[in-house]
Amino acid sequence: MDGTTTDRLSREDFLRLSAFITTNFGIKLPEHKVVLLQSRLLKRVRLNGFTNFADYTNFIFSAQGLQERNKLIDYVSTNKTDFFREAKHFDFLAQQIPSMLSKSYSHLKVWSAGCSSGEEPYTIAMTLEELKKTYTGFDYGILGTDISSRILQKASKAVYGMDQMIDVPDYYQKTYFDKGKTNKGAMAFQIKSRLRNKTTFKRLNLMDEFSSLPHHFDFIFCRNVLIYFDFHTQKQILSKFLNKLKPDGILFIGHAESTLGMNLPLTQLMPSVYRKATYIE
Ligand SMILES: C[S@@+](CC[C@H](N)C(=O)[O-])C[C@H]1O[C@@H](n2cnc3c(N)ncnc32)[C@H](O)[C@@H]1O
Repeated sequence: MDGTTTDRLSREDFLRLSAFITTNFGIKLPEHKVVLLQSRLLKRVRLNGFTNFADYTNFIFSAQGLQERNKLIDYVSTNKTDFFREAKHFDFLAQQIPSMLSKSYSHLKVWSAGCSSGEEPYTIAMTLEELKKTYTGFDYGILGTDISSRILQKASKAVYGMDQMIDVPDYYQKTYFDKGKTNKGAMAFQIKSRLRNKTTFKRLNLMDEFSSLPHHFDFIFCRNVLIYFDFHTQKQILSKFLNKLKPDGILFIGHAESTLGMNLPLTQLMPSVYRKATYIE
């Protein structure tokens, strides 16, 4: 089988795969995505030694297909991310720190859920490092989680190419990155170890319970992840975030995402930013 194959993913196999993906990873795959899924899986069919989608699909759902089944997430999700993406959020985060500190918080805990290759948690780290220059009495720890082990390895290495540095202002490049070269001689930038040491990464499927997380957070960022889930799943995940926020904790979602109609105890602070509402009965 090669890229010019005429084999197609049948409707029946598409429905089996999409049901599995939605149930296990949350990602919705309506029927018009059949061509997309087919093109994303084409390489996998060949690499696993099959000549058609039907045999590959049967393999996925067999006992021997467990590893491939777990890897499916890497072929259906998008990891698109950038440093300083939706930059107003980081300005807002910075504005919140003085009042947080006046309530005698000294160690801020931040969770970047669906962190992809690390640009989001490291942008948070750079923002907080800048604040530490003015407000000397505090420190922070950042947890980055994602469902994809492959992307988390990249996040831990924290090495980025020129293309990924476009949105990083010169001052931040100089202050928070070590510059070097890859084996192939291309320019590479690695987040400095003092920021990496404050950031830990862990695999977590947002469809699972969050009981494995050790503590509650002052800030949770879950941006550009919920958009792939249906309304019901989004609401369930947001409720679980609420349980993991400290009283007064703040939740950031993506600009294209919304909590409209969910009736959750959240007070909007600006578009896509919410404070956990604490009701006194
Ligand atoms: C588009 S990226 C967003 C990255 C970053 N938050 C941002 O806004 O730039 C979405 C990330 O969500 C992750 N993801 C998708 N489904 C997930 C799930 N069920 N649990 C945890 N992470 C998931 C993907 O692996 C991907 O890295």
